Amino acid sequence: MDKLAIIGGRPLFGEIAISGAKNSALKVMAASLLSDEALTLHNVPRLADVDMLLRLLAQHGVDASFEGSTLRLNAKTITSTLAPYDLVRKMRASFNVLGPLLAREGAAKVSLPGGCAIGARPVDLHLKALEAMGASVALDEGYVIAEAPSGLHGAEIAFPFVSVGATEHTMLAAVLARGETVIENAAREPEIADLADCLNAMGADISGAGGTTIRVTGVDRLHTAEHRVLPDRIETGAYMMAVGVAGGELTLTETRGELLGAALPALEETGLHIEETETGLRIRKTTDRLHAMDIVTEPFPGFPTDLQAQFMAMMATAEGVSTIKETIFENRFMHAPELSRMGAQISVDGETATVRGVERLKGAPVMATDLRASMSLVIAALGAEGQTMVNRVYHLDRGFERLEEKLAQCGALIERVKE
Ligand code: EPZ
Repeated sequence: MDKLAIIGGRPLFGEIAISGAKNSALKVMAASLLSDEALTLHNVPRLADVDMLLRLLAQHGVDASFEGSTLRLNAKTITSTLAPYDLVRKMRASFNVLGPLLAREGAAKVSLPGGCAIGARPVDLHLKALEAMGASVALDEGYVIAEAPSGLHGAEIAFPFVSVGATEHTMLAAVLARGETVIENAAREPEIADLADCLNAMGADISGAGGTTIRVTGVDRLHTAEHRVLPDRIETGAYMMAVGVAGGELTLTETRGELLGAALPALEETGLHIEETETGLRIRKTTDRLHAMDIVTEPFPGFPTDLQAQFMAMMATAEGVSTIKETIFENRFMHAPELSRMGAQISVDGETATVRGVERLKGAPVMATDLRASMSLVIAALGAEGQTMVNRVYHLDRGFERLEEKLAQCGALIERVKE
């Protein structure tokens, strides 16, 4: 298993091009199943999660070819409506093929994604929405067996709480349903509007995406389209926090500040100077030590859960005490004990972590059990004294494109150690 060796203490100077958003790419890729015509996606990050979904799409009969960051998908004929356990269990986003298969073919058998390192993460809201649209849903030996032989119909769906995946899944199923579907309490993450843009380019009729009420008027069929995946806001935020820890000045291109929601003013308050440029953002650390700051993770536009771990790494050496409350996932502090191994002073009580900033962390061998937690260890290592060895790099390969290359070109001492 590959490792990353990082020697801390070098400020970052230079430019990093932000990749397309993983969590948008995975959903627009699933949208290709809805049409028998080609879908061309630009700005698709080359990540292990993208490859994993491509393997699943191939199993359904989708032809795919990459050229640079452009991905051409063609689901001319669906050859199988089965999404097997082996391909779904490794990545929860795979579950989102259920709605498109059901909408287009009238039936699908998709493995339940199961639990994951950050929490139980059920799919009850996804299934209730499909049932409201007329599908019969049964669970059998770990599989969801869904049928809608005469097609799906529009429905009024009011989610009891915000779910990104369930909002996207409902949109993916509703575009080919008869009549109008209204989604209330919809997630407002930028990836939702990106998916709606892609589906509308394919001929769907979706309005309101990005707001709390989304209306989808079903159409008979979708057609060929091109779509550019929006910038990865989590990658953007992570590199901003790398500056917060290592110091220096980075220009992040091909991204936008508004995608960060509440994270942007929060980072400014800690002492980062953030400037919008024509093509992105410029970030500079204005004080020797950042100021402690309290955050609560919330659905967009609140502070994103996917930046919580990285923020904790940054607060580990800030001046003062910060509290970090995680309200989205029940088990998303696995990075805390690892950061503590580097000398961080963190105590966790339920959904709140208290971080007492120390002057400096010390390199250590560390590992994490999920993608964002692993990134928090990389960020901590960039400012730590001595060498940190981050184990289980495959987590990072799932979601950060060319991570070590991007950081090394800005002066970080970071190297992949192959094993
Ligand atoms: C998406 O997960 C992202 N994944 C996550 O990013 C992100 O952390 C999350 O949204 C929140 O922003 C992808 O887009 C592939 P949710 P998702 O449904 O859709 C509960 C990363 O690191 N829930 O908004 O699965 C759920 O357990 C990943 O890139 C139900 O109870 O998140 C959670 O507590 C990690 N029943 C909360 O809702 C359901 O049917 C919000 O989850 C659905 C969700």
